[in-house]
Formats: sequence, structure tokens, C-alpha cells
Amino acid sequence: MDRLSLYWKNATAAAVGEEHGVSPRELKALAPRIRELTRQFAEQRKAKELRYRDLPYDTDMVDAIHTEIEHFRDRCDVLVVLGIGGSALGNIALQSALNPPTYNLVSDRVRHGPQVFVLDNVDPDQIKATIELIAPKLRKTIVNVISKSGETAETAAQFILFRDLLQSRLGAKYRDNILATTDPRGGTLRELCKAEGYRTLEVPDGVGGRFSVLSAVGLFSAGMCGADIDAILKGASTMDKCVKEPELEANPAAMIAAINFILASKGKPLSVMMSYSSALYYLADWYRQLWAESLGKRDGLKKKDLYAGLTPIKALGTTDQHSQVQLYREGPNDKLITFLEVERFGNRLAIPSSLKSVPALDYLAGANFQTLINSEKLATEYALLESRRPTMTVLFPQINAETVGQFIYMFETAVSYLGGLLEINTYDQPAVQLGKDATYALMGKSGFEALAAKIRPMAARDKKFLI
Ligand code: PA5
Repeated sequence: MDRLSLYWKNATAAAVGEEHGVSPRELKALAPRIRELTRQFAEQRKAKELRYRDLPYDTDMVDAIHTEIEHFRDRCDVLVVLGIGGSALGNIALQSALNPPTYNLVSDRVRHGPQVFVLDNVDPDQIKATIELIAPKLRKTIVNVISKSGETAETAAQFILFRDLLQSRLGAKYRDNILATTDPRGGTLRELCKAEGYRTLEVPDGVGGRFSVLSAVGLFSAGMCGADIDAILKGASTMDKCVKEPELEANPAAMIAAINFILASKGKPLSVMMSYSSALYYLADWYRQLWAESLGKRDGLKKKDLYAGLTPIKALGTTDQHSQVQLYREGPNDKLITFLEVERFGNRLAIPSSLKSVPALDYLAGANFQTLINSEKLATEYALLESRRPTMTVLFPQINAETVGQFIYMFETAVSYLGGLLEINTYDQPAVQLGKDATYALMGKSGFEALAAKIRPMAARDKKFLI
């Protein structure tokens, strides 16, 4: 099997200087804590308290997903996924990594699955445009609503709209076009499923949204659209063997965490993931949520008012060389840049030699795009090194279901290590709730009247500050 690897030389003090890189002494000092965290994770897994780590081995879950794919596949020309945050970002990332960018645009005969639309916002123009596009295919449209709680305002609003739409076109049979992925036991959506008789899949107990991509949350839509979900999980289990290693230098997830941790303490709290592959760019979007929600915590486990956090940023090579790299090289030296590099792209595309006679362009004649994009990655790595900016590279031998599964599992485990080093609760997101409550209040949900009264005055803008 192709194995992902992590190259971290250019994040070391030897490469970028003691002030900006990690030294052997600093790594050695962290090694016992990594061993201890590795031991704790193993204990937590035994006690079934770290469920996301065991998803690759959950055969009941995989069987249930395959059953639903079999059930819906032949009756589905369009798949609409309704969800937000952890209930959408993984779906988008898998779709974009494993299918060509033109997947939705090619004719139905060529495409190996339904068209897929993941609506992860409540922008009325976006939703209306999608509905107009799929309207002629509504009979063969399957709506996969994903919400662990079933109460998220965005997903609920979308679902009410799509449920009505299906009902108006299909009558009582509208239920047959809905698959709900939700909490196995309770919650508003689970109640609705029981009342209305939808088919369902489970968001596994104890798996939070941003750790749920390797469950039915992410794998149903991926499988419907032709991805080999068994291979994704096989990739994850391969990575599991590496990230169980107690020794820091043998464990890529622990090394990602250690380098991020040390460099954050050296004034580099910004963590840029720069993908030199358009297909992998949405994995950087998924990573942004993983890093931000897991690590941004006011209180630590042992200390209050810690204000921990590393700010994740996504960038795309080569595109952002023409937009961000000026800042990355000459702005504040406050970033760790993690490149994603693909050793073998799916296509080997040649640059024709037709303009060989133009002296300024002759170097391109007969070269190919793979060499160009990877040379540009190396060029950027070199330029950053010259400016003493630390970088790491995640190397994909090629992009396929297994390597993508490895990547996801490696970064999920890395964030567990990083949360452990920061001594925070990696798995909660207490600060998200106030915004959710404020939305309920402003939308008139009962029980939130007092909060609405506090917020409403803000809507009357103070003209002194309006230019
Ligand atoms: O990671 C998380 O927990 C969040 O991003 C949730 O996934 C998101 O808020 C959606 O929640 P739910 O699945 O309950 O609708």
C-alpha cells in the first residue's frame, strides 16, 4: 500500500535557526510526554472513550453504510447533503479529493454516481440556485440530512425546505427519498425519523462532528459517488499502526503535534496548510475546523484563562505564491507552513513544445505540469528556508482512497496529541454555543426572550460609527 510520509527537516533549528525551528533538545524534552499521551490514548480506547480512533474497525457501521448505498444507488441521480461544520466539511473534502473537479458537470452516462451538492450554508441565493438546477430531477433526488443533535438551525431550516419540496412533488412517497444521519438514540432529528419513517444511519456515540468523517457522516456520500470506502478505512487503519508508536520520531501524528507545540511557544501560533494539489485543498478546509475547534480553548484542564489555540490557515499552491508568499517570507515570522505534496498525480500532462523558439519560454517546452507544480513547491520551500521560515511536508505517493484515509487519521490523532500537550479538552467546543443561542433568540425560539432583548439594541446601528 502507498504510505503517506511526513518530512520535517525544514522545521528544525538546524535548518532555520534555533529561534525559529525545533531543536533536538526541545524534542527530547517532549518525548516522555508523548509516550505518556500514547499510553493514555491506548487506555482511553480500551475504555471506549476515544471512539473516533476505532472507526476503521467498526464492521457493523461499514455494513450499515453499504446497505444504504445499495438501497439508494440505482434510484439516485442527485444527492443533496444537508449539514454544517463537522457534518459537511469531511464530505466536501472526500468528494473533492477523490473525484475529478468536473464530477458534477459531466454527463450522467459518464459519471459513476449521482451529482452531489453539499449545502453547508443558509445563503438563500445558493440554495435557490441549487433547487432550480435539480428541480427536473427531483424524483431521483436523495436528501441526506446529517445532524447529530438535529437542532442545528442551518441544517434544520434546509431540511424543512427540502422535505416540503420532495413532499410537494412526490406526495406521501417523499419519505423514500430521505436518509437521515443522526444520533443513534435521541435528539430532534431521531424523533422525526421515528415519526415519519425515514431510513437512517448513525453518527456514532462519542464521536464529535469534526472527528466524524470516517463514519456514516462522511462515508455515505463518498461511497454513493464512487469512492472505495473500505479503502479509505484501510488507509486509516494503516496509519493507526504508525500513530500508536510511543516514540516521537517514529510517530508522524506526534511529530506534527510536537512541532506545532514547540513553534507556537516560539511565537508561531499560525499554522498554514498549503496544498500543492487542488484536489487536496478542501482537506485543508477540513483541517481548519479540526485545529480551530479542538485547540481554541479559554480554560485548560489544569489552569483557567489559558487562552490556548493555534490559528489554522489554508493556502493553495501554486495559486497563493502569487498572493500569500510575499507575506509568508517577509512578514512576521509567526507561521509554521505545512505543505501537501503529491509525488504521482493521476495525469501526466505534457507542456507542448510549440513555443520552443521563444527564448523566454523554451524551458517549458517538453516539460510537464507535474514537474512544474512540484518544482514550484520545492522553489517555495527553498525561498521560505532562505528567510528562515519553518516548513514541513506531507507527502502523498498519490491521491487515492487509502492515502486520503491515512491523512485524515493522522491529523485527527495529531490534534489529540496537540490538545494533550496544551492540556486542554480537545473534544468540546463550549464557545460555539452562545452564537447558536443568539441565533435562536433572534429567530424567536421560545425560552430565549431575555437573550433576544439583550441583543436587539445592537441591530440599531450607532450612526456615529457609520461612514
Ligand atoms: O464539530 C462539531 O461538533 C460541529 O461543527 C458540528 O458538527 C456542527 O455544529 C453541526 O452539528 P450537528 O451535527 O449537531 O447538526
